[in-house]
Amino acid sequence: MVKLAIAADHGGFELKEKLKTYFMDKGIVLKDLGTYSAESCDYPDLAQKMCAAINDNEIDTGILICGSGIGISIAANRCKGIRAAILYNDDVAHLAREHNNANVAVFGARMMDYSDVIRRLEVFLNTEFEGGRHQNRIEKIEKVRG
Ligand code: RB5
Repeated sequence: MVKLAIAADHGGFELKEKLKTYFMDKGIVLKDLGTYSAESCDYPDLAQKMCAAINDNEIDTGILICGSGIGISIAANRCKGIRAAILYNDDVAHLAREHNNANVAVFGARMMDYSDVIRRLEVFLNTEFEGGRHQNRIEKIEKVRG
């Protein structure tokens, strides 16, 4: 069973709480890295907490949320070893795992319906990385990064 964590800024706080309940009802506890209220905060802080948790092997897979999904994904993708993908449709939810081995699923709470988020998350969490030619490409990302 993968170890999952979730984090959001104020724009994603409400959706984060709903997702925690959704997973709790399935018997899965998401590690909550914040934010813990709807008060305004800075999405890079939450992205960086998530990246640290992954790089410290505390968790395997993360869920990040901000208002648009953009700021928090830009911030997360600056961190070593992080492949954060905005799941803007169901095919992308599949491909982000199969081809890109994404380890963080990103959502824009103000742009996406709850039912779409749930469906895409289920696809994302139940799809394996294909490896092969995609492995080399992923390694190149880290090489380019330096
Ligand atoms: C916060 O208002 C908003 O700017 C943030 O959640 C996100 O959408 C940034 O990209």
